[in-house]
Amino acid sequence: MSTSRTALIVGNWKMYKTISETEEYLSSLLPLVKESQSLIYLSVPFTAIRAASEKCRGTNIHIGAQNMNDASEGAFTGEIAARMIIEAGGTFVILGHSERRKFFNESNELIHRKLKKCIEEGLMPILCVGETKEEHEDKKVHKVLKNQLNECLKNIDIESISNLVIAYEPVWAIGSGETPSSEEIEEIHAYIRQLLAELWDESTSIKIPLLYGGSVNPQNAGIMIKEPNVDGLLVGGASLSPETFSQIVNFQNALTY
Ligand code: PGA
Repeated sequence: MSTSRTALIVGNWKMYKTISETEEYLSSLLPLVKESQSLIYLSVPFTAIRAASEKCRGTNIHIGAQNMNDASEGAFTGEIAARMIIEAGGTFVILGHSERRKFFNESNELIHRKLKKCIEEGLMPILCVGETKEEHEDKKVHKVLKNQLNECLKNIDIESISNLVIAYEPVWAIGSGETPSSEEIEEIHAYIRQLLAELWDESTSIKIPLLYGGSVNPQNAGIMIKEPNVDGLLVGGASLSPETFSQIVNFQNALTY
């Protein structure tokens, strides 16, 4: 991407950090990123959304969730609805993360329903797609992505996707220290862009931010984000330390074009 485009950097904390740890983290992070040219999103545990959004009020950091239920409300013990996230101060939600697919059996069909509800309730969806190691080795990446995107995004009309974000996260790259090369990421993102153009149209597909996620760190972030179809990054492990996350968010400062 060119320096004139604003990068979208999302931190995914997963099941880490209590309320007090969140407050301490943000006290360290805020001064480190206040001059940042990136759009910063932090996906925190449900219990920390309120404290985080209060601490980030008036700053350049947006707070969101890592999952939501597909119903507006109801007798679903242990679940969280979109409007609960919104009232706590969340503005976005990650949907279809591979850990949700793997450990909680989330199907494309369920993710599709969550996505529809998320849009209906006014939260920004970050939809995750990506192939497993086996699918990667079997050279099924395009097929898997096409299936995931078609099933998760079917019958969603063009008017409702103005703030949709897609994250390409190869499952084998998450938490492993392994990543595809930046050329491979660019090839796959260009393919995703083409699929989105088939679902809607080309001018719409160009506007949808495409993030890469999987073992992003301060060393590789700047290289990945230089690719024309990489609009941002989804960062797991490296978002847990304010110092490391700020280095990724401030990647422009470290780059010479
Ligand atoms: P990682 O996780 O950066 O620790 O690989 C990314 C993710 O799961 O979103």
